[in-house]
Amino acid sequence: MKVLVVGGGGREHALVRALGRSPQRPELLCAPGNAGIAQDARVVDLAAGDVEGLVAAVEREGVDFTVVGPEAPLVAGLVDALAAGGHLAFGPSAAAARLEGSKAFAKEAMEQAGVPTARWRRVASLGEGIEAVSELAGPGVVIKADGLAAGKGVTVADTAAQARAALAEIFVEGRFGAAEASAVVEERLEGAELSLLALCDGERAVPMAPARDYKRIGEGDTGPNTGGMGSYSPVAGFDAARVRAIAAAVHQPVVELMRARGTPFHGVLYAGLMLTASGPSVLEFNVRFGDPETQAVLPRLRSDPLELLLAAARPGGLEGMELEWSARSAVTVVLAGAGYPASSSSGEVIAGLEDVPAGVEVLHAGTTVQDGGIVTAGGRVLNVTALGDDLRSAREAAYAAAEMVSFTGMQLRRDIAAGAGELNSMRVGAAAAGAAAAAKGA
Ligand code: AMP
Ligand code: GLY
Repeated sequence: MKVLVVGGGGREHALVRALGRSPQRPELLCAPGNAGIAQDARVVDLAAGDVEGLVAAVEREGVDFTVVGPEAPLVAGLVDALAAGGHLAFGPSAAAARLEGSKAFAKEAMEQAGVPTARWRRVASLGEGIEAVSELAGPGVVIKADGLAAGKGVTVADTAAQARAALAEIFVEGRFGAAEASAVVEERLEGAELSLLALCDGERAVPMAPARDYKRIGEGDTGPNTGGMGSYSPVAGFDAARVRAIAAAVHQPVVELMRARGTPFHGVLYAGLMLTASGPSVLEFNVRFGDPETQAVLPRLRSDPLELLLAAARPGGLEGMELEWSARSAVTVVLAGAGYPASSSSGEVIAGLEDVPAGVEVLHAGTTVQDGGIVTAGGRVLNVTALGDDLRSAREAAYAAAEMVSFTGMQLRRDIAAGAGELNSMRVGAAAAGAAAAAKGA
């Protein structure tokens, strides 16, 4: 079977590696890929957003199955265009991808499906925004530009002045596309975050292993938001029963709603959750694998990834399928270039890749070949994933390997998965105590 992976980052490298472990031994292609992916798949020189070019390539190459990594081509209708040509693909249609493409669409869907989420207002002007901020005022508010903003459209505001500045960016400066600017203002929630991804076949949602990612550039969760600086899986306190319960309350109702609307959801539905004192609440939906959660989750998957992705692409295809996971822990550390996330540098020679021990996965996120050597080509450059019998040993192995790699300006967070076990049980304990108190009070 010929499988094309669309995208060229660390997530797509993780997908290519996972598919390469399938007993079905697929022939792997990736567009556009990167220098690392080129060692594991045949790269095709087409941008992930080139819908026409990709459909033509699928026809020309006789690709049997296309797996779409990033959100932009999904929102742009790549899966629809492939389906129109009779080609099977993993990922939602454009109509179903609106769950990520529009924050307001997602909030309305959650409300209709009865999924827990922060109180919110949709606003279409600076004035409406300021009104909503005072209406929802609590310990802070969150302003989200509608539409895809690569993680940069969200402002968690501590003060009304910060909220106003974020609204002005959207409605006055038009930073996220001025024409029909709209935004979501929502109440700010407190708690630890959890990423829970579920494979969906249009009818049911089958949860994957839980993960946690680190969005800020700086240690201790400081500094600006990034695409993600690291991740780990599993997360203490979230056993299979608890994960199933969350998916039943969060993912399944949305899958049923989308089906009832005639726009069934196929692919991965990723819920970014806040674990509040009154239970998990959805911060956002993404309609694709998380980056870098995928890099820590897929190495733990024991089931055949190709069989699962194929099943999700077919209506009801996941019926009776169980996902099997390794009991080991995985930690992913992102190595980013100088200036990230404000800017991205390129062309820095990467040294030490050959010193990394065989058991550690070095996935490429932003690399290319220059003068026969591998050089940086993007903000996030490499993802180092190690497995261990527990989080601590996985973490030690990931950092030991990361130490072996170097390039000018390399940045990494040293606190990925640090103290995660204790922190989680503390927070989970506090959340459980809060829920118990609420139940008592009721
Ligand atoms: P999003 O792109 O919607 O996931 O938002 C990015 C990040 O902003 C999340 O991972 C959270 O850290 C934070 N965030 C989003 N919504 C809220 C909220 N309602 N309360 C607190 N933090 C939030
Ligand atoms: N890790 C966050 C994301 O993939 O959006």
